[in-house]
Amino acid sequence: MKNRFYITTPIYYVNAEPHLGHAYSTVITDVQNRFHKLRGEETFFLTGTDEHGDKIVQAAEKQGIDPKTYADRISSLFRESWPLLDVEPDRFIRTTEPEHIATVQRILQDVYDRGDIVFREYEGLYCFGCERFYMERELEDGKCPDHGTVPVRLKEKNYFFLMSRYQDWLIDYIMKHPLFITPERYRNEVLSFLKDPLDDLCISRPVSRLTWGIPLPFDDKFVTYVWFDALINYLTGLGYPDDPNFSKFWPVTEHVIAKDILKPHGIYWPTMLKAIGLKPYRRLHVHGYWQIRDQKMSKSLGNVIRPRGLVESFGVDATRYCLMQEMVFGLDAGFSEKSFLLRINADLANDLGNLVSRTLAMVRKYVKGEVPAPQEPEGVEKELREAALRLVPVWEKTMESFAVHRAMQAVWEVINKANKVIDTSAPWVLAKDPAKAGRLRNVLYTLLESLRIFSILVAPVMPSTARKMQEAIGLDPQEDLNLDAARRWGVLTPGTKTSLIPSLFPRLETGKAKDKKEVKKKTVPEDAEKQISFEDFQQIDLRVAKITAAERVPKADRLIKLNVRCPEERTIVAGIAEHFSPEDLVGRQVVVVANLKPVKIRGVRSEGMLLVAKDDKGLHLTTVATPAESGAKVS
Ligand code: ME8
Repeated sequence: MKNRFYITTPIYYVNAEPHLGHAYSTVITDVQNRFHKLRGEETFFLTGTDEHGDKIVQAAEKQGIDPKTYADRISSLFRESWPLLDVEPDRFIRTTEPEHIATVQRILQDVYDRGDIVFREYEGLYCFGCERFYMERELEDGKCPDHGTVPVRLKEKNYFFLMSRYQDWLIDYIMKHPLFITPERYRNEVLSFLKDPLDDLCISRPVSRLTWGIPLPFDDKFVTYVWFDALINYLTGLGYPDDPNFSKFWPVTEHVIAKDILKPHGIYWPTMLKAIGLKPYRRLHVHGYWQIRDQKMSKSLGNVIRPRGLVESFGVDATRYCLMQEMVFGLDAGFSEKSFLLRINADLANDLGNLVSRTLAMVRKYVKGEVPAPQEPEGVEKELREAALRLVPVWEKTMESFAVHRAMQAVWEVINKANKVIDTSAPWVLAKDPAKAGRLRNVLYTLLESLRIFSILVAPVMPSTARKMQEAIGLDPQEDLNLDAARRWGVLTPGTKTSLIPSLFPRLETGKAKDKKEVKKKTVPEDAEKQISFEDFQQIDLRVAKITAAERVPKADRLIKLNVRCPEERTIVAGIAEHFSPEDLVGRQVVVVANLKPVKIRGVRSEGMLLVAKDDKGLHLTTVATPAESGAKVS
């Protein structure tokens, strides 16, 4: 029977668009999935979006739309980002799917029936950002350690999962399974949380406070608290409990997360699984934060790098490679586009790219573009063959332990050895001497076979580069791109046609100001906070409106109440009375923001905003140059 492997990313909140942090977790998960496939395993890769809870309601409110429309929109942005990075999940799950809702309700009912969920009153300090209660001792200077805000004191009756019942079991389980949570520092962190008595986990919110959640099956006045809902996605994704995928893949589950959600995954989730009557996942892999200028990259800080920009600047494979190389799994990493540029030029353009193009060009020139028939290699080419074969188990072990950067470094050591073989054996000299034709064939064959092995070992990180390399040396990636083939030497058949290919990684000109600026523009907006994406812009509904009536708002010097048609009639209160008299305004066509959430200003409902330009001379109405239909869209 084939070995199996099931891997998941966190399901991302839909309160902001995907950034480099999400991209990293998702790419490394994809790399691992491809690695296990390369070993011939049957794999399943799950990602998706987490769509319930206060955060989503608040984000939707800000945009003046309902949570479902909002979640649909952002969830699609996540779903559409992954193909850009050549990420290929087997399933994209959304917590608003009926299948997930049914699974969560089923599990809640089961756990409730077993007596592990109870109803009690609770008073505590609640952080809306984290959507959880905090213990006094967990706060830093009285503030939430993640959000830096002062939690609000809340008292309410709620349902609790009796997590504390499983504390001793969990400690024992972690102690007996040293690789359950890796790297080790995070295992230690979880064990240290577990030194203090565990609180039970509040798993509900009254519908009076939150309706955007999954109703509890045993009490419709409550909805599920987000973590209980979110974590269960890993079961729904496999079709728990009846789908054959569930029994096939659950025993080989591995989760990838960053350290921000260690506690829910290291503590809540295994205890929930225990209460459900399931075995814990096999492993939890925890990585650090991508930072920018020493601060965590995060939507709330607004200092984010968009995956699309990186791919446009550097290309898909180079972006994936840099993501894997610039972060040591488990530790924080600083993002810098300059390091990406330097790394691409050094590792990809110089080392790998040159090796491929030099080898193919020499094969073309000296042996008619065909794989030559080798004899027993000697000297430097023999050393290269041995180094390439020794590399494979080292690579496999490091990949398995998620040290992808070390696996790549090991490959690059041998790539550099291959480049040296070219320099020291000097095929252009050998080609001049008919007596050295055998040696020449050996050198070229060894280089081609090494390229073949490299193509397999870079495949999880750079899938399309791997395919191009294989095709160039006359192989069929469908058949030849597998780890067994990397363990063997002599797979290339003499006489096979090779082909020249365009440079795999053209050098990026680091010195040229224009290129630097171009890259910067696409990856790091100079002032990220001040820039918005096209999608952000599209959310503003600008319309041409005709002012049909205008009057001053009593006792308010600056305010004018306008009746506008766009095309329906509505009122807008504008702070323009010091610059315009009502008579000047009636009959004018103006531009308004039509989807602003209505507000009351001095008791008058304002349903939009009038756009004006401001300079030293005062205010100027924005209008259209030629008459337009009232309600015409401005974009
Ligand atoms: O926590 N560096 O969703 P989320 C590295 N919905 N990784 C980062 C990162 C950064 N600066 N910022 C985000 C949630 N991430 C829950 C998860 S799972 C059942 C529910 C990545 O949108 C990283 O994987 O806040 C982190 O764990 C995750 O995004 C948090 O995503």
